[in-house]
Amino acid sequence: MFLSVVLLWFCVGFIVLQLKSRRPKNFPPGPPVLPLLGNTLQLSLENPLKDFERLRKSYGDVYSIFIGPKPAVIINGVKAIKEAMVTKASDFAGRPQDLFVNDVTKSKGKAGVILADYGSSWREHRRFALMTLRNFGLGKNSMEDRIHKEIKYTISTLEKSIDKTMSPQVMFHNAASNIICQVLFARRYEYDNALIKVIVQCFTENSKIANGPWAMLYDSFPLIRYLPLPFMKAFKNAETVENLVNEFIREHKKTRVPGDPRDFVDCYLDELEKRGDDGSSFSEDRICLYALDLHFAGTDTTSNTLLTGFLYLMNYPHVQERCQREIDQVLEGKDRVSFEDRHNMPYVQAVIHEIQRVSNTVPLSVFHCTTKDTELMGYSIPKGTMIIENLTSVLNEEGQWKFPHEFNPENFLDDKGEFVKPEAFMPFSAGPRVCLGEGLARMELFLIMVTLLRKFKFIWPEDAGEPDFTPVYGVTLSPKPYRMKVQLRTPQ
Ligand code: HEM
Repeated sequence: MFLSVVLLWFCVGFIVLQLKSRRPKNFPPGPPVLPLLGNTLQLSLENPLKDFERLRKSYGDVYSIFIGPKPAVIINGVKAIKEAMVTKASDFAGRPQDLFVNDVTKSKGKAGVILADYGSSWREHRRFALMTLRNFGLGKNSMEDRIHKEIKYTISTLEKSIDKTMSPQVMFHNAASNIICQVLFARRYEYDNALIKVIVQCFTENSKIANGPWAMLYDSFPLIRYLPLPFMKAFKNAETVENLVNEFIREHKKTRVPGDPRDFVDCYLDELEKRGDDGSSFSEDRICLYALDLHFAGTDTTSNTLLTGFLYLMNYPHVQERCQREIDQVLEGKDRVSFEDRHNMPYVQAVIHEIQRVSNTVPLSVFHCTTKDTELMGYSIPKGTMIIENLTSVLNEEGQWKFPHEFNPENFLDDKGEFVKPEAFMPFSAGPRVCLGEGLARMELFLIMVTLLRKFKFIWPEDAGEPDFTPVYGVTLSPKPYRMKVQLRTPQ
C-alpha cells in the first residue's frame, strides 16, 4: 500500500514537472511559471501594458513570460529594441505562425504581408507593395491628390457642424479607410455605404476578439480551438470580408486594361501576368488577404492617431494656435498645402510627431519571432521564440525625452526651434519589418491636420467636463469617444 502511494505521488510529481514550462539555459528571466497556464493568469487580459511595465522593473529590459505553455520574450527600451530589430535584424524578423490571428486569416501559405514569415515570399511581396505605393506617389493623380480629394469630404462633414458639436470618430475612420481604398480599389465609399459598414463592423469586432481574453485562451490552450466558444465569431467575420473582397477582385479582372493599372489590385494582376510560371510566390489566392492587410493596417492606426491629435489640440489651445500661425504664414497665398511644405513648418512637424508619440497607436508592435538561435543583451534565445517589442517602453522612456510623461512639442525641437527627431521615436517600429505604410501615414497625417487646422478652430465643448487622455487598449490604442466643437476661421 505504502509503495503504491509513493509511486502514485512520484508519477503525479513527474507529470507536473513534465507539464511545467521551463526556461531554456541562459534564457531571459521572468516571473515563476505555472504548469500549462504559464503566466496567463498573472497578466491583465484586458490590458497587459501596465503588467509589462511592472515586470520590466523587476526583471530588466529583456525578460520572458509564458503564454500558456509557450515562451515569449518582451523587449523594452531603445537599446535592446535597436539591438534586436536593427543590429540583429534578420534574426528577429520572423512572425509566429501558430496564433489565433494566423488561423483567422488562414495566413499559412497565403498570408498577405503583415503575418507572412520572414523569407523570400514576404520579401517579394513587401518589395512589390513599396514599389507600387511609390509609383502611386508620382505623376498625375498622385497620392497627394488622392488624399486631398478625400479631405474635401472631411471638410464638408465639418462644415455641416459649424458652431455645433460633433463626434469625429466615424469621420476620421472613414477618411483613413477611403484613402487606402482609393489606392487598393480605385474607389471611395460614402460614409453610410452598406458594404463598407459591414467591412468596418467585421474588422472592429475581429480587432476586439483578437485582442481580448478569448484569443489569449485560444493561443494558450490548443485543445479548446475547436469548441464553439466566442472566438468562432471572428472566423465567420473573416469569411464575410473575404467574400466581399473576392467579389471586388472578380469585378477588377473583368474591367481591367492590362498594362494600364488603375489601382493596387490591377498592379498585382499585371505582375502575375508578367511573372507567368516563374515559380515566384505571387498568386491570385494572395490578392485578397494582401489587400485586406493593407486596409486593416492603414485604417485604425491613422484614424486613432488623428483622434488623439485633435483631443490634445483642443485641450492645449496654445499649441493649436501656434500651429495655425505657422500654417498661415507658410501657406500665405497658396491654394492648398503640399507634403513638401513640412520642411518650412518645424513647429507643426514637432506637434504631429508629439501626437504620434503620445498616441502610441500600436503599443506592442506586431509580434515577431526569432528566425534562428540568437543572442540579445547577453541572453540566449532559441529559434522560433515569440518576440514582443514593447514600443510603449521607448516612446515614454526616461532619459530619451525632455518631457517623457507630458504632451509637449518641445520633445521634437532643439534650442533654435528647429525640428529634431530623437532615435527613440519609433511608433512605426524599426528594422526590416518597419511599417510598410510609414510614408503614406506621415503624408496623410500632415496633409489632413494642416488643411483642417487652416480652415477650422477646434474647441473642447464647455459641457464635456475634464478630458480623459487615457487610451482604450485594443489591437491599436484609441482615445475614448469624445465630441468637438467646430468653428470656421479665416487664415490670418
Ligand atoms: C500612424 C499610422 C501607423 C502606425 C503607427 C503604424 C505602425 C506599424 C507598426 C508598429 C508595425 C509593426 C512593425 C513590426 O512588426 O516591427 C506596422 C506594420 C505594418 N504596417 Fe503600419 N502603421 C501605420 C500606418 C500604416 C498604413 C497607412 C499602412 C498601409 C499601407 C500600413 C501598413 C503596414 C504593413 C503592411 C505592416 C507590416 C509590415 C511587415 O510585416 O513587413 N501601416 N505598422
